[in-house]
Amino acid sequence: MSYLRQIRGNRALSSVPKLLLSILFFISKPSNAQSSSPDFACDVTRNPSLAGYGFCNTGLNVEARVTDLVRRLTLEEKIGFLVRKATGVSRLGIPDYNWWSEALHGVSDVGGGSNFTGPVPSDTSFPQVILTAASFNVSLFQAIGKVVSTEARVMYNVGAAGLTFWSPNVNIFRDPKWGRGQETPGEDPTLTSKYAVAYVKGLQGTDGGDPNHLKVAACCKHYTAYDVDNLERYIVSDCDSVEVMYASQHYTKTPEEAVAKSMLAGQHALGAVKAGFVNETDVDTAISNNFATLMRLGFFNGDPKRQPYGNLGPQNVFTVENKELAREAARQGIVLLKNSYGSLPFSPSAIKTLAVIGPNANVTDTMIGNYHGVPGKYTTPLQGLVETVSATYQMGCLNVACTKSDIDSATSLAASADAVVLVMGTDLSIEREDQDRVDLFLPGKQQQLVTEVAKVS
Ligand SMILES: *[C@@H]1O[C@H](CO)[C@@H](O)[C@H](O)[C@H]1NC(C)=O
Ligand SMILES: *[C@@H]1O[C@H](CO)[C@@H](O)[C@H](O)[C@H]1NC(C)=O
Ligand SMILES: *[C@@H]1O[C@H](CO)[C@@H](O)[C@H](O)[C@H]1NC(C)=O
Ligand SMILES: *[C@@H]1O[C@H](CO)[C@@H](O)[C@H](O)[C@H]1NC(C)=O
Repeated sequence: MSYLRQIRGNRALSSVPKLLLSILFFISKPSNAQSSSPDFACDVTRNPSLAGYGFCNTGLNVEARVTDLVRRLTLEEKIGFLVRKATGVSRLGIPDYNWWSEALHGVSDVGGGSNFTGPVPSDTSFPQVILTAASFNVSLFQAIGKVVSTEARVMYNVGAAGLTFWSPNVNIFRDPKWGRGQETPGEDPTLTSKYAVAYVKGLQGTDGGDPNHLKVAACCKHYTAYDVDNLERYIVSDCDSVEVMYASQHYTKTPEEAVAKSMLAGQHALGAVKAGFVNETDVDTAISNNFATLMRLGFFNGDPKRQPYGNLGPQNVFTVENKELAREAARQGIVLLKNSYGSLPFSPSAIKTLAVIGPNANVTDTMIGNYHGVPGKYTTPLQGLVETVSATYQMGCLNVACTKSDIDSATSLAASADAVVLVMGTDLSIEREDQDRVDLFLPGKQQQLVTEVAKVS
């Protein structure tokens, strides 16, 4: 599915002939269905001989450690570590690694590198990015990134996530019909860059710790149609994009050429080397950047429990403070266009009955958008409103598509109420990845429902 590619400047670490290792050590972790410890390399406690390897020596700098590691690997081993689900090198105490975790607005289980089946059953879900960005508040963006990386570290510590997160989405929301616009900070390049810088700082920053380390690794996406000439550090291909380049877009005649093209901008496979499209030096450059990233994350420093963030545990997920920050982000991002006659905030003494109407009035899943995790708690708009005023509720439509509406029930409810709140709009059934919109109207009979309810209110 996915090949990973990483580049770092133009510096190619020298390719040294394949090393012959006469003594092979195997590290096998006891298989543990309820995996509750993270995967990591250089477990010198289990295998003291690993301490002799340069790449496990935390006294050396990252570049020297990477050079040491790369020169010990065969071409097949290097390539095995370049794909999304990297194959470990057990003879060197390096476990498998799944590069693909996501953390768009909270740690997500999309991608397979993370899950909520273990000791962390849920996490903090922040508003979808398009809403948070509307706060224009850079310190909020960074504060959210910091909380997300803390929860990500917890999940890594219990063996439920990787350390590399393919977020944020920095594409410019050029066409409002795009189904993924919700993931982005919007159409403004300035806001997008400010959002991305702050969120990445929040994810990666070590808060005064070693600046050469990373708390977790962010990955800005997607670079299609963008100028990447000046990029440093690591770049990955999207999950199936190398295949798409060959099979769907016919950009290249063979899959190997597609690999070569993406590797020189980045990806790999044995076939491409054998066919002469790329050489082992190119592979070394790419793999070196992969390993450098994992080293900066501490993956090659032995037991994470003895490293920074090693003391974080499930008690650090969905804390009162984290929950409050999610709520604060919603407050700061929600945009009120008009407040005629000071209708808001609702006065519980003036409003005895509130009619809450609409297909999104009492939804849960809809509010978490895409690339989401498992929120520790949902509060629907209806549940929020009844905390202030007593309310009655009608969906008004069968669902968000609203091909069938129940306008009569909605209007009679509205006519008898002191105030009406309509919660309309879309959800992932209307706009999502692989499904753009064809227009920007409210779906189905939603507009008619709004008009009729307004008439009687
Ligand atoms: C930005 O967000 C932070 C964190 O919630 C908050 O403390 C600060 O007051 C906000 N700034 C503005 C200008 O609203
Ligand atoms: C959850 O993630 C851990 C660590 O990546 C893994 O060992 C485990 O098999 C995963 N469980 C499921 C059900 O995917
Ligand atoms: C490997 O290929 C790159 C271009 O992809 C070239 O610059 C480099 O000189 C080649 N190295 C060797 C050792 O052939
Ligand atoms: C609103 O949604 C919540 C959560 O799904 C559900 O428990 C509750 O029964 C719903 N309320 C109404 C009035 O339908």
